[in-house]
Amino acid sequence: MIAWPDLQTPRARIRMADTSDALKLLQYRVENRAHLAPWEPLRESDYFTLSHCLQTIEHGREQASLDRAYPLMALDVDEEAVLATLTFANIVRGAFQACHLGYGVAARMQGQGLMREVLEAGIAWAWGELGLHRVMANYMPRNVRSARLLAQLGFEREGYAKRYLQIAGVWEDHVLTARVRPDA
Ligand SMILES: CC(C)(COP(=O)(O)OP(=O)(O)OC[C@H]1O[C@@H](n2cnc3c(N)ncnc32)[C@H](O)[C@@H]1OP(=O)(O)O)[C@@H](O)C(=O)NCCC(=O)NCCS
Repeated sequence: MIAWPDLQTPRARIRMADTSDALKLLQYRVENRAHLAPWEPLRESDYFTLSHCLQTIEHGREQASLDRAYPLMALDVDEEAVLATLTFANIVRGAFQACHLGYGVAARMQGQGLMREVLEAGIAWAWGELGLHRVMANYMPRNVRSARLLAQLGFEREGYAKRYLQIAGVWEDHVLTARVRPDA
């Protein structure tokens, strides 16, 4: 049984959301709608409602209890607002022990090293409690910020996948990268 993370970094607390966080998640979605839209799947208008946020949180907790995915939020230290999100998704056990990593930071926190701080802590947890061996993260070639962040974190390029994910309604090529647990 995996103990869900509750991580503290200098600027953030990182944990699973519970239903009492739904309003904070909604605020994050609404405030960052335009900022995130070019890098995410198309969102229906109900995505920006409290009931959809509640559904997302409940689904996320169910996925975590099944060890399939851990969608985490990074809040400010007083837990007043969501600053960033990170998700260890598509977890495969057995001989692979791998997952995909997704992430985003609030527009107002961009360019401050916060995403890197949060991901360093999250990835350390993934090597430890989660017992993963490989974390994979993929980005569109024009997502320069994401490319720089992954390089800083030690992710290495493993390939290039054409028409890989449907982002903002378009099947987009992605650069495939991964980081492997250092001591394994
Ligand atoms: C991709 C994304 C998470 C990158 O965020 P970011 O804030 O640029 O990443 P970092 O946390 O690594 O911050 C790096 C910047 O902070 C600066 N910085 C300031 N203080 C810092 C510190 N203490 N430590 C490290 N960097 C610091 C760096 O110099 C760098 O600045 P620059 O952007 O001017 O070069 C963000 O652009 C985002 O949320 N985009 C939309 C969603 C998205 O694309 N998700 C990923 C899909 S693959």
